[in-house]
Amino acid sequence: MFELKVGICESCQLVQLINEVPPEMMFNSHYPFRTSSSQRMQQHFREMALKITAAESQADSAPFIVEFGCNDGTFLESFARLGFMHLGIDPASNLVSEAVARGVNARTGWFNTETAAEIVESAGPATVIYAANTFSHIPDLASVFRGVDLLLAEDGRFIFEDPYLGDIVTKCAFDQIYDEHIYYFSATSIDLVARKFGLKLIDVEHLGTHGGQLRYTVGRLHQTPSRSVVDVIENERQSGLHSVERLKAFAQTVEFRRVELPKVLRELATAGKTVAGYAATAKSATVLNYCGIDRNLLPVIYDTTPEKQGQLTPGTGIPIKAFPQRSEEFPDVYLLFAWNHEEEIITRESAFRAQGGTWLKFVPDITLS
Ligand code: TMP
Repeated sequence: MFELKVGICESCQLVQLINEVPPEMMFNSHYPFRTSSSQRMQQHFREMALKITAAESQADSAPFIVEFGCNDGTFLESFARLGFMHLGIDPASNLVSEAVARGVNARTGWFNTETAAEIVESAGPATVIYAANTFSHIPDLASVFRGVDLLLAEDGRFIFEDPYLGDIVTKCAFDQIYDEHIYYFSATSIDLVARKFGLKLIDVEHLGTHGGQLRYTVGRLHQTPSRSVVDVIENERQSGLHSVERLKAFAQTVEFRRVELPKVLRELATAGKTVAGYAATAKSATVLNYCGIDRNLLPVIYDTTPEKQGQLTPGTGIPIKAFPQRSEEFPDVYLLFAWNHEEEIITRESAFRAQGGTWLKFVPDITLS
């Protein structure tokens, strides 16, 4: 058992889990999440690859793109097609095989100081190091930053995307707090930590993906930061994002959700409505266990991932099944756990709404619509 407790480091302002789950327990040959499971994320990574391709084509040095946490190769596939030198690295061997099958140059492993040293030795410096939804999962930040320092070309960019503390707090997205998410980054904390390793934040961009993320670009100390770095850091200071008072107020709202969400489910049961969970996300484990929602309140969760179907949710034992194909089998209400893919899901599930189905959401507020 691991206690899901969050704290803030007073010196570098990093909000983080107090207890870490060993990465080998989570990221291994059974890792079930595939980047390609979301159409919107596929498009997002294609667009990002285009952006990098355009910038790299202007540069003097030959591009070399390294992605850690490359998953099933969705992002690197674009570079493989263009014949760009690239390398993906990921501890999930099952997904690395899928990446290789897409024509991506990928290998099983962890990104750290040692592997970065091997890569630079065998293939030379990387012009871009990229990581999406991966860096915040790695307990040993120091090893990653040292690896980046070794591997990155002199004018290279380390670009990463992770859930943003600002969005988590303002939207009360408390389910972003789960075992894999060790850190809840902000522009302030990333700049402070990067500087300890001779690097700094040179650009920051707010993204709508996964319920609100920042795309951080880290470079070397001689590189000039964009205006957005100054603006976002100033905004975080003014809003008191890292203050203990602000974080305690967030914790209070989270406590309120813990009472309210099961209450709404009990009311729906009393009214004779059938409810099913939409997507057995990693985030849903936090919601179910924290709010005490078991199979009496939520008899089933549907998910598209074959490896998850037929399994039970951790701690709460709710069965996970494939989505019903026939509209007679739709529940009255779907509790939307994959709210970070809301737009894509609600558009695709128009038949559910059309036959009178209702969505129950809990981020940013508890709503039935
Ligand atoms: P995550 O939120 O932990 O990244 O996981 C997303 C889960 O949601 C994954 O198991 C696949 C599932 N999913 C669906 O079942 N239907 C969908 O339309 C989408 C986008 C995801």
